[in-house]
Amino acid sequence: MQLSVRELAKRYKTGDGVSGINIDIKKGELVTLLGPSGCGKTTVLRSIGGFLEPDSGDILIEGKSVIQLPPEKRPTSMVFQSYNLWSHMSVYDNLAFGLKIRKMPKEEIRTAVEDALKLVRLSGFEKKYPAELSGGQQQRVALARSLLLNPAVLLLDEPFSALDAKLRHEMREELREIQMKTGLTMVFVTHDQEEALSLSDRIIVMNHGRIEQIAHPQQIYDEPASLYVAGFIGKMNFLKGVAEGESIRIGHLRLPNEKGLNGQVTAAVRPEDVQVSSTTMGEGALAGKVKQVMILGHYAEVTVELVEFGIIRAFLNKEFVEQLQVGKDVGVSISKMTGFPVDESN
Ligand SMILES: Nc1ncnc2c1ncn2[C@@H]1O[C@H](COP(=O)(O)OP(=O)(O)O)[C@@H](O)[C@H]1O
Ligand SMILES: [Mg+2]
Repeated sequence: MQLSVRELAKRYKTGDGVSGINIDIKKGELVTLLGPSGCGKTTVLRSIGGFLEPDSGDILIEGKSVIQLPPEKRPTSMVFQSYNLWSHMSVYDNLAFGLKIRKMPKEEIRTAVEDALKLVRLSGFEKKYPAELSGGQQQRVALARSLLLNPAVLLLDEPFSALDAKLRHEMREELREIQMKTGLTMVFVTHDQEEALSLSDRIIVMNHGRIEQIAHPQQIYDEPASLYVAGFIGKMNFLKGVAEGESIRIGHLRLPNEKGLNGQVTAAVRPEDVQVSSTTMGEGALAGKVKQVMILGHYAEVTVELVEFGIIRAFLNKEFVEQLQVGKDVGVSISKMTGFPVDESN
């Protein structure tokens, strides 16, 4: 393991904090800490980097505990949301600074800085000052500075959240490319689920200072481990159902009771797993009325008001939607769902 976090806990005087944090990251993996603002992502990341002293637990990098080491002695480096460049220094000096401290020979520093700038697509920017750069360019310099320190683990705390949407997309792709070229191990913090889904080898979903699920992006999407994860990642419908032996019943519909639940359940259903039929099929479907049709490029989001179950959203083929006018009576069926016990809904 390149990085292991064991039973990490940190509680601030206010009572907020994190606990029971266990993470194992392999060499070359890009793992994202994902969760809403205030859930404890930065607390975990700063503990790994040594900027914060946890109450208990251990942090191992390449098998060695670093818990007693100050940040500058740890084999980590951190990229912050605010780029933290020195404004009175040129790009070159910003990048060379850490290497000079490490007493790297001048010629080697020159080559290393050149290579790092090439990696972040800023070749030739050596003489510029931070104020002459755009936000995206400054963040690239900050990233290059961290890469130059050749850390065993690179820590990134919402590094792109100050950038506009288009630039954020570009930076994601670049970071992925850099990671593939360098094979660096990275822990990336974000509150943006789309960013996490697109970037990560694995995602750690956090909620209220705890880890809810650690899994590959597709698995987090297809098999959310909790109602919280189900609601946080992607769009989701929630319907009331009843578990009866082998099946979960939602009105007329019966779906497999894969987890062997009992009694009242909440069924989490992706909009792409909802079918809407222009005939009200009686037994096989839930009755409803089309409430809204939104064409979203190659697909449409159709909102149906179900008689017994309230609003349900479906992603449907654009061509099919032409038959579905607002107010039309329809039948709704469900091809796949994930069930959760009702008392879990906190
Ligand atoms: N220095 C601090 N003193 C007291 N509370 C803090 C401190 N830093 C963070 N917190 C609280 O701890 C919780 C987790 O914060 P943080 O790790 O920054 O979350 P995130 O990065 O996910 O937004 C929040 O409720 C936050 O208000
Ligand atoms: Mg934070």
